[in-house]
Amino acid sequence: MRSDISMEITISEMTLYDLPEVMELEREVFFWPWTEEMFRDEMSRDYSFIFLAREPSGLLVGFICFWMLIDEMHILNLGIRKRYRRLKIASKLALAALEFCYLRGAGAATLEVREKNKAAIKLYKSLGFEEAGIRKNYYESPRDNAVIMWLYDIYSLLEKSP
Ligand SMILES: CC(C)(COP(=O)(O)OP(=O)(O)OC[C@H]1O[C@@H](n2cnc3c(N)ncnc32)[C@H](O)[C@@H]1OP(=O)(O)O)[C@@H](O)C(=O)NCCC(=O)NCCS
Repeated sequence: MRSDISMEITISEMTLYDLPEVMELEREVFFWPWTEEMFRDEMSRDYSFIFLAREPSGLLVGFICFWMLIDEMHILNLGIRKRYRRLKIASKLALAALEFCYLRGAGAATLEVREKNKAAIKLYKSLGFEEAGIRKNYYESPRDNAVIMWLYDIYSLLEKSP
């Protein structure tokens, strides 16, 4: 049981000034990191948002990228530095993003995650996401299926959250 452990973080929206730090974190977290170009593309879309989590010293410890599409939220990417995991930072980032989208009219949220990524699937389930389908061989290198997950009612999650 680790649910009593958490960490004070501040959450802010990413700007271009944050790009070098975000790239450094991205390379630590992912085997196939997003490129600088991919981050710039996301930042240029008016429906795409990136929130950053920093610990009190200012160190960047995690980020979430998501789309707000009419009445749905799509989570594209979420990553936490290795030595800062299991401190509820991903949960807090996801909740901040869900609240942001809910306040702009999103009732539900969806995402795709590697079927072998049991940690991420467990995280999303802990937030109330449910498995809704499989896309066979959706990912390459290594090949993996995508699990499609949905949170059908953002409001009921936010109502329960501190
Ligand atoms: C998946 C990831 C984002 C989780 O971040 P995190 O900040 O450690 O997650 P949290 O502390 O908020 O975890 C909340 C709950 O999710 C579940 N969970 C998270 N990581 C877990 C793990 N490694 N094993 C089992 N359950 C896990 C647990 O239920 C956890 O609650 P608990 O710690 O009280 O048991 C992080 O491990 C990561 O960055 N992984 C690499 C990148 C990645 O896979 N991103 C997802 C792309 S879709």
